[in-house]
Amino acid sequence: MEPNLIIFERIFILLCPASWLQTCKRSSPNENKCFRKLFEGCFPALAAGIPEIGVKSFEPLNIDQVSVSKGSGNLVLAGGFQNLVIRGPSNATVRSASLDLARRQLNFELELPRLRIRAKYNLKGNILLLPLVGNGDVAMALKNVHTAVYTKISLHNETQTGDEIIHIDEMKVSFQVGAMRIHLKNLFNGNEILAASINAFLNQNGNEVIAELRPDLELGLADIFHGLWNNVFSKMPTKLWLL
Ligand SMILES: *[C@@H]1O[C@H](CO)[C@@H](O)[C@H](O)[C@H]1NC(C)=O
Ligand SMILES: *[C@@H]1O[C@H](CO)[C@@H](O)[C@H](O)[C@H]1NC(C)=O
Repeated sequence: MEPNLIIFERIFILLCPASWLQTCKRSSPNENKCFRKLFEGCFPALAAGIPEIGVKSFEPLNIDQVSVSKGSGNLVLAGGFQNLVIRGPSNATVRSASLDLARRQLNFELELPRLRIRAKYNLKGNILLLPLVGNGDVAMALKNVHTAVYTKISLHNETQTGDEIIHIDEMKVSFQVGAMRIHLKNLFNGNEILAASINAFLNQNGNEVIAELRPDLELGLADIFHGLWNNVFSKMPTKLWLL
């Protein structure tokens, strides 16, 4: 075996012991919730990161940039968030996970009880008739986030080792947020009175604001998670868990 695979195997045994004993059947990976149990069993280890094989920690999750661009309706906004540091993804629970090789689908749902986000923002626009302009620090807290990830996959042979891996060709992400708190600092170049009214408005109407921005955010997140999950699967040769 290649050194890479030996290291991986050891880590896999240590960190997902329950899953290790339970390889799934290639012809019916979802039988007895096999794939779901494997995904669930390995999630904490994957979230913690496995630096030995190049899987970065999800805790905190660092995202360079999420853009928003919404040109009509009650919310008009352009700009985005940079250098996001998201704490809480490792507390996710797996609600479902399924693999269908014939249909080339790998889907899963995660429940995140609480996410705390710090970032820089740069936004310009209008909320209802109120102007919103500013750049600076933003703090956000999201509660009860439910995300569903749908992917189209294919089987590849990893270039270095020749081992078969799952490759995500396309990804779609959808999410629902139970509640949001947000505080944008330095709105209107520090005009405290205007800033306080905008922040109060955003907090009172958190769900509506998220609903307006959802299509943008879902595309942005799919883009980010696509690379992240492909990296994870490229490190999990199917011969270790799909027999
Ligand atoms: C995970 O959840 C526990 C219990 O609610 C909490 O104490 C902890 O801070 C959470 N971890 C993160 C990284 O948010
Ligand atoms: C991967 O390699 C195996 C054995 O070498 C070969 O049979 C298979 O066709 C390859 N798959 C792809 C997608 O190239």
